[in-house]
This record gives sequence, structure tokens and C-alpha cells, in this order.
Amino acid sequence: MIREVLKMGDPRLLVRAEPVRRFSTPELAQLIVDMRDTMAHLNGAGLAAPQIGVPLRVVIFGVRADPRYPGIEEVPDTVLINPEIRPFSDEIEEGWEGCLSVPGLRGWVPRWRRIHYAGCDAAGRRFERTVEGFHARVVQHEVDHLDGILYPMRIRDFSRFGFTEALFRGAAPPPEE
Ligand code: NI
Repeated sequence: MIREVLKMGDPRLLVRAEPVRRFSTPELAQLIVDMRDTMAHLNGAGLAAPQIGVPLRVVIFGVRADPRYPGIEEVPDTVLINPEIRPFSDEIEEGWEGCLSVPGLRGWVPRWRRIHYAGCDAAGRRFERTVEGFHARVVQHEVDHLDGILYPMRIRDFSRFGFTEALFRGAAPPPEE
């Protein structure tokens, strides 16, 4: 079911979410279905459970190649629960981000360029990956949602924060997540 996405200003986006303790439950399966439906409906690249008002440490993300957006970096469709994340090098990279909870805006946000992350899938199976670039950015953005952090809180250069149509003027903007 497509759920309403909370918008910046809603205090539920500022709460630290709780770990999932029971896997393979109907409730967790339904949450993931709802998150996928909602993300697909809004053409998002990622979504965190707190964005639909569920204070659990569950995120989903994924980006497929699209001829309308040449050069976009593909990210595998992933369900990531109780994530742990650490930088894999000191390198910081700035890049554009948008958020489904901050619709219509984009900002220039510093992130670790390479990270190692681990967590569980919906069945509780643990997995880990070392990633870089847009994949690393999306994971950091989504995990921030679990700690009550929205990307505008990380912006350093506010001259590069604004309305999508004004910033991109017909060029393909980065997806919201
Ligand atoms: Ni977001």
C-alpha cells in the first residue's frame, strides 16, 4: 500500500529509530511491501521506515539504469535492516541530494566517498558490502533518517541549496530518497 511520506518539520522525522528484533514476521513483510510501493510511486531512490511514520531501523534503496538519466550510477535493490556503517577511507565527496521528505528541493551534501556497511535482510540474514560513489551516498542518506537526521542538516554550502527547477533548469536532477 502506498503510504504518506512525512515532510520535514514533522517531529517523527527527528527521532532515533529502534532496531528490528524479530525477522520474517508478517508485520515486517508488510512494512517492506508498503515501503517499496511508496518509493516506486514517488520514483524514489531510497526510503527509510521513519519517513512513513514507522520508527524502526529499516531502509530500502535501489537505482536502475534509465535512458532518461544517462550516467546515473546503478544501485542494487536492497532491503537493509539494523544497518552499521563506517567510512572505508578519509575521503569526503560532495554531491547533490534530494529527499522524499523535502520534496522539490536539492542540496549539495558532503558524504564519505567509500563506506563499508553491514546489516540484515528481511529474513534476518546478515550481509555486508564495501561501496563508493552514489551507492555510498544513498546508504548514508538513508541511515541518517534512522538517526533523525535530514540532509539539509549536513549542508555546508547553502548557496547550493534550492528548488530543483531553479537549480537544474531542465537537466535531469538527482532522484529523491
Ligand atoms: Ni531522504
